[in-house]
Amino acid sequence: MRSYTLFAPAKINLYLEILGDRPDGFHALMMVMQSVALGDRLSVRCHGHEPRILCEHPEVPRDSSNLAYRAVQLMAQRFPDGAAKHGLGVEILIEKHTPVAAGLAGGSSNGAAVLVGLNLLWDLGLTLPELQDLAAILGSDMPFCISGGTAIATGRGEVLSPLPDLEGIAVVLGKFRSLGVSTPWAYQTYRQQFGHTYLQDPQAQAARVQQTHAGPLVTAIAHGDLQGIAQHLHNDLEKVVLPAHPPVAQLRRAFAEAGAIGVMMSGSGPTVFALCTSPEAAHRVRDRVAQQFPGGDLGLWVTTLHNSGIQVIQST
Ligand code: C5P
Repeated sequence: MRSYTLFAPAKINLYLEILGDRPDGFHALMMVMQSVALGDRLSVRCHGHEPRILCEHPEVPRDSSNLAYRAVQLMAQRFPDGAAKHGLGVEILIEKHTPVAAGLAGGSSNGAAVLVGLNLLWDLGLTLPELQDLAAILGSDMPFCISGGTAIATGRGEVLSPLPDLEGIAVVLGKFRSLGVSTPWAYQTYRQQFGHTYLQDPQAQAARVQQTHAGPLVTAIAHGDLQGIAQHLHNDLEKVVLPAHPPVAQLRRAFAEAGAIGVMMSGSGPTVFALCTSPEAAHRVRDRVAQQFPGGDLGLWVTTLHNSGIQVIQST
């Protein structure tokens, strides 16, 4: 029986600006997305008669609320011949390392890995853009999860333009285990509080995207200028998440005081990431921050920025 094991890296947002409303009810965004080397391992194989998710992590759902499950359903619906030939039974074993409900696209990356895995298991021969079109049906950040690396993401987050790699830069991620933030809550609250600042006109939104394309963060990325990148991190959702969750703001301050050169919340949070000048500096930052939050609720991970999305790491 064939099986594929895939690596599904988490992502952080180096930049997240909410431009305005879209006719489909989502927000028009301008983001810079970045993969990190922390991620999950998923094994997919044909087995049984229905999708089955195996995962030891207690917060990972096994039903259709899991994007990995929905990815199987979508593929079966779009490619009934593939499903008929190989059977709808797909067993997905998830080895979870990315924190859950954390703003790190943990669920999306798992769904993206299943799309890539089924393309191989069912011999569908789909191209990367075809896989990304399917991914966009399931979630706004799923197309990025497939290709990964460093990229500008606009539209809902599904329109990607790649940027030069930033591989190897050290980063510390911090998340309180007891705290999760719902993405719909974060966006809805932002709309309630800041809707009056939205750019209504699609042309004005497009002009703002152009401005940021040519702005200081993207320029710093193009030059591999870590100091410049660190100075121009931005996330509009901090404006609603930090006041609602004071420990996240405390963690942000602790990272900065511990010597990180750039600190920002990722996505809708509550994970905070801290860019550091070297792996040694990252370990020092982690140790200092850990001392400030004793008690075990704060999870800290030292990792690096990563240059790719879903990768097949083993096939049998
Ligand atoms: O696309 P995804 O399912 O990841 O989005 C989760 C939620 O985040 C949406 O239901 C919506 O509330 C919010 N969202 C948004 N605008 C986007 C992306 C997400 O309002 N561009």
